[in-house]
Amino acid sequence: MEESYFHEMYRDSDDPWGFTSRWYEQRKYQVTMAALSAPRYRRAFEAGCSIGVLSEQLASRCEQLLAVDLSDKAVQIAAERLKTAGGQAIAETRDFVADWPPGSFDLIVLSEVLYYLDHAQLDAVIAHASAALTDDGELIAVHWRWPVEEYPQTGDQVHDRLRDSDLVHTAGYLDTDFRLDVFARVARQSVAQREHLV
Ligand SMILES: C[S@@+](CC[C@H](N)C(=O)[O-])C[C@H]1O[C@@H](n2cnc3c(N)ncnc32)[C@H](O)[C@@H]1O
Repeated sequence: MEESYFHEMYRDSDDPWGFTSRWYEQRKYQVTMAALSAPRYRRAFEAGCSIGVLSEQLASRCEQLLAVDLSDKAVQIAAERLKTAGGQAIAETRDFVADWPPGSFDLIVLSEVLYYLDHAQLDAVIAHASAALTDDGELIAVHWRWPVEEYPQTGDQVHDRLRDSDLVHTAGYLDTDFRLDVFARVARQSVAQREHLV
């Protein structure tokens, strides 16, 4: 999608998707946080963080969080929200497709961002994420499933592509509105196995 599409969205509103007001978003964030299998993460990356509503929740589970968006306005609002969040949480302006951040992460969050990409961009992002994910880390993807005319792909198409990648699928959730999938780079123990319950 053209970058101008997002700048125009934020020109007209501080919260163009209703992240702070809609029950759909609040519930989706709760499902997202519940699907994360570790209680804490060392260094997380959130791509396309918008105004930082999910970022604030992620920060409470992370020692360090890097949350990026291509909109300066969204990043300013996210940075303000993250000032009071626990841990070291940074919001910065960055295009995660053209300029994937350096270093490794034990949590990568791709929430409502991949359907804006064409097939080549999606494959490049999956490759970057896969290379940046630690062996004990996880990647979580969450996307709206209803078709949107101007988006290059649907949520189901991007999740199908993730499922076809080399990433190991560890958990999933599906309803009429959104789909969530969790992946690891290599097969890892379940929560019960890690806690010696089995
Ligand atoms: C629908 S919002 C999702 C916000 C957040 N991830 C969530 O789930 O609440 C999509 C956001 O992704 C950002 N975005 C889209 N493409 C991007 C890119 N290539 N790099 C950085 N941010 C991007 C947009 O500016 C917008 O703020």
